Amino acid sequence: MWGTNRHVAGFDGSGDTIKAVRVRCGRGRRPLLVDFALRDLSGPGSDSGLFRESGWGFRRGGASCSYPGRDIHIRQLDLPLQDDFELMASLPFEVRRHVPVSESADRVVAHQVLRRERERRRMSVLVVVAPSAEIESVRDRYLRAGVQPKRIEPAPLAAVNQVIHSSLAPDDGCWGVLDVGDTGSWLALCRKGGPLHVRSIHIGGASFTQELVLRCRLTRKEADRVKRAEVALGKIRPEWRSRTATLPTLLKNTIQGLASEVSLQLNGYRKKNGPVRALFLAGGGALVHGLDGVLGEKLGMTVRLADPFSAFDLPSTWTARKRDLLADLAPRFLVAVGLTRWWEH
Ligand SMILES: Nc1ncnc2c1ncn2[C@@H]1O[C@H](COP(=O)(O)OP(=O)(O)OP(=O)(O)O)[C@@H](O)[C@H]1O
Ligand SMILES: [Mg+2]
Repeated sequence: MWGTNRHVAGFDGSGDTIKAVRVRCGRGRRPLLVDFALRDLSGPGSDSGLFRESGWGFRRGGASCSYPGRDIHIRQLDLPLQDDFELMASLPFEVRRHVPVSESADRVVAHQVLRRERERRRMSVLVVVAPSAEIESVRDRYLRAGVQPKRIEPAPLAAVNQVIHSSLAPDDGCWGVLDVGDTGSWLALCRKGGPLHVRSIHIGGASFTQELVLRCRLTRKEADRVKRAEVALGKIRPEWRSRTATLPTLLKNTIQGLASEVSLQLNGYRKKNGPVRALFLAGGGALVHGLDGVLGEKLGMTVRLADPFSAFDLPSTWTARKRDLLADLAPRFLVAVGLTRWWEH
């Protein structure tokens, strides 16, 4: 028996762009990607409701939106077993002990009890801490772009859920998601039944651009186009024509910095939780040609681009061009797809 079909939308607007998807899901059938969009928030007219036309953002019930992964602290705490009342009293102290935020900062703490283990007398609690002012400004930004947030979910949680529910995660061992955004990245590591570990890294797509600016003496605009492989370096700087330099070679310092940061986190996690079998790359920075291969070599593990649409059907009316565009951009939509929680409908 078919269930009823529902349309749900996810909006991931952490940086200068909003990535949006609309999906149709219903019990007993594969989800369908109805549409996807990527809009620039920094350009002219970005305050006038980018998503208001076509009813994208203001659908009945509002939309699920992301909170940036870099501006947030997510910790899974292993605490002595206690009831909800005791937990409310002890949580502020535990948060202060485990989360590096200043005493004076006005912040919002959300928590979810993941499990209580009576024999061990321990419990596992997921804690999310974010600055209150930042949450308000994120909400405002969505409203200005024409999106009414119904739920705001941390980007790393949406991404991890998406990997789990599209059966991309390995059956055993640990795995992770590395989202390379613009001004920074975040890494989420997890294991079935194990703790979730999320940390931000201060290296992102802008750092790649900056290395090209300095190494090849390009303007920021030129460097951005070279980084996206939209133009060959030799075309802009003829002196580079005779040299065979791949993008990962031109970006070697930034890639090394990113690999070192990731490696530090991986080592700490694998000591307690066992080998990390796979790392899924997401975000715009993941699209740097060859980044997956080079990171894989440096980290000594499987690193692949995340495909959030692997579990989805696409409309039969779409042109080959639209399908190719989606395939090229897919890793940038990992968070947006996870926000729809298509597996719950
Ligand atoms: N095809 C591409 N090749 C290389 N880099 C790209 C490509 N497309 C986008 N980028 C880079 O990816 C970055 C933006 O990625 P993304 O959209 O994931 O970031 P964001 O979510 O807006 O930012 P943040 O996560 O920092 O808040 C920019 O630095 C952009 O230059
Ligand atoms: Mg992002």
